Amino acid sequence: MDHDGRRRIDPQGVPETLLWNLHQRAYEARQPHPVLDDPKAIELVERVDRPCEETFGPPSRLLSQGQALRVRTFDDAVRAFLREHPRGTVVTLAEGVETQFWRVDNGRAHWLCVELPETAKVRRALLPDGERRRTPARSALALSWRDEVDASHGVLVTAQGLLMYLRPAEVRQLIAGCAEAFPGGALVFDAVPRWFGERTLRGEMKTARGYVTPPMPWALDAGELPKIRTAHPAVTRGARTAAATRTRRVLRRGLARAAAAAGGAQHPADHGRPGPVRPDRRTAPRTPSAARPLRTVKQRARR
Ligand SMILES: C[S@@+](CC[C@H](N)C(=O)[O-])C[C@H]1O[C@@H](n2cnc3c(N)ncnc32)[C@H](O)[C@@H]1O
Repeated sequence: MDHDGRRRIDPQGVPETLLWNLHQRAYEARQPHPVLDDPKAIELVERVDRPCEETFGPPSRLLSQGQALRVRTFDDAVRAFLREHPRGTVVTLAEGVETQFWRVDNGRAHWLCVELPETAKVRRALLPDGERRRTPARSALALSWRDEVDASHGVLVTAQGLLMYLRPAEVRQLIAGCAEAFPGGALVFDAVPRWFGERTLRGEMKTARGYVTPPMPWALDAGELPKIRTAHPAVTRGARTAAATRTRRVLRRGLARAAAAAGGAQHPADHGRPGPVRPDRRTAPRTPSAARPLRTVKQRARR
């Protein structure tokens, strides 16, 4: 329901976390020298009738900058992909009310924003779909969204702020599904370190206002990346950690989500956690329109 021209939204559980991200991005974008230019986030936060501060507390410069750096890492990966595949398809799993399209779109690429039905409704209301950007309302885990992807000009799948909320078996299923469907494609995801995930499971991650971070059953320590590179026949090496150096500097060890940029889709080791790896062209099922492998993912926020 609209109130004073603003739209009331009240997502709960994991979907509620999209508000935290928007809140932090808009706060950072308002700074005199932001690490992320995001005028659309500022516009959006003003159109939303939901007092984020009551739930999450006031944003801090430290957290908002860390959040913005994480976002920049994803933006850099998408820009690198679009340079090589200007007509490619960017699949954004769990896009929430991210405004990345308005930051990085090249006017030619296609976007598929896969979201849970309740969030897709909010997103479409606030950020209506366009000719090249659609929001299928379904769980990323349904995998049927893959049928809607035009892979003929290359595919990049991003999962920003999603995998940590899934169970390990679900992460495995999702990554395997990407690897099988998009040989030569790439997946970019972020993860929380294990100690952080464990604290969320114990309900210990709280804001000063008492907001408790939802449980994050899946976590990945950066040092675990190598063991997953040979985890599945549909993936090859190519894993790269893209945790922004600056993010680490600003947030210190573990506070940031370690953003991992992948040179390809991934699959977890049976005993471990997935990391970014490249689909193996020798074993992955091929499609006639298989995209050329993404070679380069920009990894550092430059400021
Ligand atoms: C932390 S927010 C991230 C939103 C956005 N990517 C960002 O970084 O601002 C988590 C998002 O995951 C979405 N989500 C949770 N489970 C999902 C699923 N199974 N499939 C698709 N989206 C999901 C929620 O609706 C929510 O938008």
